[in-house]
Amino acid sequence: MRKKVIAGNWKMNMDLRQSQKLVSEILNGLGKDSKAEVIVCPPFTSLSEVSSLLKGTQVKLGAQNMYYEESGAYTAEISAEMLKSVGCEYVILGHSERRVIFNESDELINKKIKTALAKGLKAIFCIGELLEQRENGQTMNVVSMQIEKGLEGISSEQMKNVIIAYEPVWAIGTGKTATPEQAQEVHSFIRELVAKKYSTSVAEGLIIQYGGSVKPDNAGELLSQKDIDGALVGGACLKADSFLGIIASA
Ligand code: 13P
Repeated sequence: MRKKVIAGNWKMNMDLRQSQKLVSEILNGLGKDSKAEVIVCPPFTSLSEVSSLLKGTQVKLGAQNMYYEESGAYTAEISAEMLKSVGCEYVILGHSERRVIFNESDELINKKIKTALAKGLKAIFCIGELLEQRENGQTMNVVSMQIEKGLEGISSEQMKNVIIAYEPVWAIGTGKTATPEQAQEVHSFIRELVAKKYSTSVAEGLIIQYGGSVKPDNAGELLSQKDIDGALVGGACLKADSFLGIIASA
């Protein structure tokens, strides 16, 4: 039985004070033994402070991006070691906003995943199709290409530290959630792909999160699908009560 993993992607929201408040409210509201694994991914500027607040709790810390080089003249970039030094265990890579707005390619994302894993971070690897691609019946092709390229050179052993987040781009921030059936169909396809590429045991152990307008009132039905092992939450993670509501439905 796979554990449910609920991650909050704060995106470019929350200054330092707001971050402290949000994370304190989440910690206060979280039962001592929540069955789900909970991850918060604040902006870089809040990581260190949030990390201090999370010490001794069950909530894990993640970053929203990183660069694949170790150090050097890469103005404004952040390395895996830097993330680890402030207590990150996870890093989100390949988010559609990085792909679409910042032109990140599958090749770049693959380099980042390789570095993150080599440095001991766990990767939340995001994939998903655009609306036009879904309408043209290309969803499975897009997803399989993103997996093929994004996970190139990643071993079965390393896959233990990879979460795949399926986030249909048309469902992100739009209030349009994929139906549980639409999401389940793609999740099960992803698991089959991973079984073919690696093995049944890698596929069975893999956490596949759904992301795209997850809210407390739709989370339960999505998370009850066989192959949906968690959620990557955007808008609804910025308020403690809605994030806690999603965690509770896991
Ligand atoms: P929303 O929950 O705001 O749709 O965002 C989802 C997302 O992009 C999480 O990474």
